[in-house]
Amino acid sequence: MKMLGILKHSIRYCRRPVAANLQSTIGSTNSNKRTLDGQLDLRCTHVRHVHDDAKRVAEHESVIFRQMFDGETYTYTYLLGCPETRAAILIDPVYEMVDRDVKVAEEMELDIIYGLNTHVHADHVTGTGKLKELLPRFKSVISKSSGAKADIHLEDGAEFKFGNQCIKCLSTPGHTGGCMTYVLPEHAMAFTGDALLIRACGRTDFQEGDSGKLYESVWRKIFTLPNHFYLYPGHDYRGFSRTTVAEEKKFNPRLTLDKEKFVQFMKELDLAYPKLIDKSLPANLKCGEISKEAILGSEDVLSHMGNH
Ligand SMILES: [Fe+2]
Repeated sequence: MKMLGILKHSIRYCRRPVAANLQSTIGSTNSNKRTLDGQLDLRCTHVRHVHDDAKRVAEHESVIFRQMFDGETYTYTYLLGCPETRAAILIDPVYEMVDRDVKVAEEMELDIIYGLNTHVHADHVTGTGKLKELLPRFKSVISKSSGAKADIHLEDGAEFKFGNQCIKCLSTPGHTGGCMTYVLPEHAMAFTGDALLIRACGRTDFQEGDSGKLYESVWRKIFTLPNHFYLYPGHDYRGFSRTTVAEEKKFNPRLTLDKEKFVQFMKELDLAYPKLIDKSLPANLKCGEISKEAILGSEDVLSHMGNH
């Protein structure tokens, strides 16, 4: 019975990392030559890639992926695109960084049609409201349980598509009541928002935060993904960019505690009140639809060194 469960799990999730797919694509081109010691010489392919335009390079990727950073709030925004249809999404766009995100997408000939928030952020204003103004087809997306305004609301287990790409939505409450982790099973990637950070996790002392729930969410939803899956967090304050399920199960100093100790640890964190929470929460509950003056008029926005 247990074996059957493991087998089903393996079938559900792709076991071949993106890099392997890319390598096999490159290796199968006819132009490759063998060197004297019989190894495939990929230099010609590499040179051709360097000189190709962004779109053609992207065609070799099974999913187009860019990780972008906001140095003011230490927030990661992720651009994901379908290589065939050019449909694209942004995960957790930041209001002040929307122009950068749109420019990158234009350069890559991608059409951003959705902006997905992992949760109602307390440390920055979401860019989804501004994106709706700039891009006529754009729609905002968030979990139903977040209670926030959006064009599309998602529930646990929902599947969400852009182009030929599919995202599985996992409800992972605890940091906030409406946190969602977005998984791309075909590409062994998961975007955890603030539920799980690299060697850390989001705080649980406001916005329906609940340490016990967070512990259960991580262990039941995120740590049950295959070990090789890459995890991409909502923030990082120490220069890390990604991790894996296996790494965090072994090395996350908080989540490797037992549940009781984890709850106690979170209780004793004694973190400062987030500087932007009074401005960002009301704005984010309305999809970030707030006047530019109201946001840029806040000194907090410019001086904020976020602690999600
Ligand atoms: Fe957060």
